Amino acid sequence: MPAAENVPQRTASTLLTLIDMRLGEAFQLGRMAIAFSGQMEDTLLLWRAANSGRPFAAFTLDTGKLHQETRDYTDTLETTLGFRIHRLTPDPRAVVLLERELGATGIYESVSHRQRCCQTRKVEPLRTFLTGFSGWVTGQRREQSATRLALALREQDAAFSLTKFNPLADFSLNDVRTALDTPGAPAIHPLHHRGYPSIGCDPCTRAIRPGEDLRAGRWWWETRDTKECGLHQTTITTEH
Ligand code: ADX
Ligand code: SF4
Repeated sequence: MPAAENVPQRTASTLLTLIDMRLGEAFQLGRMAIAFSGQMEDTLLLWRAANSGRPFAAFTLDTGKLHQETRDYTDTLETTLGFRIHRLTPDPRAVVLLERELGATGIYESVSHRQRCCQTRKVEPLRTFLTGFSGWVTGQRREQSATRLALALREQDAAFSLTKFNPLADFSLNDVRTALDTPGAPAIHPLHHRGYPSIGCDPCTRAIRPGEDLRAGRWWWETRDTKECGLHQTTITTEH
């Protein structure tokens, strides 16, 4: 692979054209749900989707454990872009059982406990919501982690039985920033300015230190190979 400084920089216009084309392909498939976690990748996708004039549903998994800044930012973006972002919340009875079983610190004690929390607060609400959609769109990028190196632009999502689009799969962080550095683009989440390149739930996310990788602040007490919440684990690659 060439050194990073030798890779030609893509212009904002090139990047936006690429995103618009990829979103257009997704919309052609049928009813599309676009995920929004508050991170800049998702802001970029929602902004472009809004500009497309095509119908789609935007959603966020409101786990009950998000930073207040994320909730506030979601409200603001909704107003800025002028459409509803569905807040998907977990089943309250399942949350009571979960909290009874794990207590206040269970998620830090074992990976399986932590994954149970993600399953209840993220995966199950998403499964319910995605019923009836042809596909969903995420802001994942290959560069984000070792578990995403082979991420495809389009996959068959076996976990939810529909097509999954990752239009930014081959984008660098710099590409995302460049695309958003365009007149008319929405402001990014305030936590991005405070050392959080990756934003998840409050108890499971910290700011990173200089030199740390982009997801070092996510589930920081775990090893790199377990840092997934279950939304993105069981997909079958069909196309790069
Ligand atoms: S995670 O699996 O580790 O949580 P990550 O935070 O990197 O994923 O986000 C990758 C993509 O997954 C986001 O760009 C977004 O498309 C989707 N995603 C993650 N968390 C949420 C959430 N809380 N609500 C909606 N989509 C989410
Ligand atoms: Fe629970 Fe943390 Fe997963 Fe959020 S990221 S659902 S708080 S374990």
